[in-house]
Amino acid sequence: MKQIKKITCIGAGYVGGPTMSVIAQKNPHIQVTVVDINQERIAAWNDADLSKLPIYEKGLDAVVAEARGRNLFFDTDVDKAIEEADMIFISVNTPTKTYGKGKGQAADLKFIELCARQIAEVAKDDKIVVEKSTLPVRTAEALKSILDNTSSGVNFHVLSNPEFLAEGTAITDLHNPDRVLIGGENAEAIEALVNIYASWVPNDRILTTNLWSSELSKLVANAFLAQRVSSINAVSELCEATGANVDEVAKAVGMDSRIGPKFLKASVGFGGSCFQKDILNLVYIARSYNLHAVADYWEQVIVMNDHQKTRFAEKIIQTMYNTVNGKQVAFLGWAFKKDTNDTRESAAIYVADHLLDEEAEVVVYDPKVSATQVYKDLDYLGTRTPGANRRLVKVVDDPYEALNGAHAIAVLTEWEAFKTYDWARIKEGMKKPAFVFDGRKLLDRKQLEELGFKYYAIGE
Ligand code: NAD
Ligand code: UDX
Repeated sequence: MKQIKKITCIGAGYVGGPTMSVIAQKNPHIQVTVVDINQERIAAWNDADLSKLPIYEKGLDAVVAEARGRNLFFDTDVDKAIEEADMIFISVNTPTKTYGKGKGQAADLKFIELCARQIAEVAKDDKIVVEKSTLPVRTAEALKSILDNTSSGVNFHVLSNPEFLAEGTAITDLHNPDRVLIGGENAEAIEALVNIYASWVPNDRILTTNLWSSELSKLVANAFLAQRVSSINAVSELCEATGANVDEVAKAVGMDSRIGPKFLKASVGFGGSCFQKDILNLVYIARSYNLHAVADYWEQVIVMNDHQKTRFAEKIIQTMYNTVNGKQVAFLGWAFKKDTNDTRESAAIYVADHLLDEEAEVVVYDPKVSATQVYKDLDYLGTRTPGANRRLVKVVDDPYEALNGAHAIAVLTEWEAFKTYDWARIKEGMKKPAFVFDGRKLLDRKQLEELGFKYYAIGE
């Protein structure tokens, strides 16, 4: 079997960066180079000041500090890194298509194809190409066809190795994965990749399958996880109508060992770059095989999630006497979950958009998200002009500034620090009645009601 001495990863994003950092940390004998066309991102990965890494993940700075410059490198020279590598991971973005056939559902594979063509053009010796990005089932077939038809007599083995890390816990997930999944056809190539993970992952957690099972399992895992969130969110609305409490229901249901307690936290709706994109992709694939009942089934997970975001925004408007025009609504949190600076598909964006349509004034505070990012997220929706977004939305660095003078507070991200705020002081500075809409069921109802807040939480 070929000894892997050099690994290249194309794509230095939320997956490529942390994943390769850990592979390098655990395999000091292998040189790992992460490349990206985004120069700014690579410069940030190389910044001597580890607080400037482009991704905020607990523990990532320590892993980078240990391996960077030893056997972990970040670079913009993609060709050189491809040429030198024995094994090439493709970890580029695969967003939902915004044009043409499959618009709004299918995965856009243009970045994947560009990588394949570049690998084929540059490679002078045999390579193992690993799909790390989340891809539609049977993409490996297309990848192999491009590689074989555009290269000059080089052999390629394509493996599927989807990533299951969750943002906010990426480093612990990578250090201690439930499983590592490797799909492939060539035993030697599979073994080469198994050996890399075996440096720290127990063998019984390294699962090998055929290519298509591996590709499909990633989409299915995300669909199952998102389905649990939509299921409990559907129940949350029923709880509000009946007097049941969604946390109590989740606990009672989750104590059934067949169901389990995880991923049953009702919320304002799931966000993140994966769940919606991957379910839409699954729906699109099912329809393309004429499996309409299957497609309709999974599509409901998204329908429910959209409903939950809208329902939360409408609850705010309705409770505030059916108008938020000119009223200040302070957002605590903008990231799609705690402990990350990622805002992709965050529920906060859609709740804000809904309130802005009603001419509310939104003031945002998030400990890890910049003003530039907040405006970028709103501008991307194209609902109103960038000027209008800047007129109606203010982003502040100090939470007490966001809350001062507010008619209402909406909790959009479950940052632990929000619980420790001086809520008596906050109440003082707010317009009365002081409303709190807790989209994360984070705060203490008893404490807030004793202080005189009008407190609303999902599912109660
Ligand atoms: P990302 O947008 O953070 O990073 C992708 C990077 O690839 C970008 O920096 C981009 O500049 C770079 N890139 C694109 N085309 C390139 C090219 N031709 N050459 C060099 N660089 C190129 O995306 P991400 O969140 O890291 O996700 C990557 C993949 O992993 C996606 O398929 C995603 O579905 C999957 N995934 C993501 C997560 C997650 O938590 N974010 C978890 C599991 C799987
Ligand atoms: C997800 C998958 O968990 C991970 O395995 C995959 O590799 C990438 O996609 P991520 O999107 O980073 O990870 O975070 P996750 O913890 O799954 O949360 C997704 C969204 O669901 C967040 O908005 C979160 O707040 C929400 N959520 C999660 C709930 O609302 N309730 C829950 O019980 C769990």
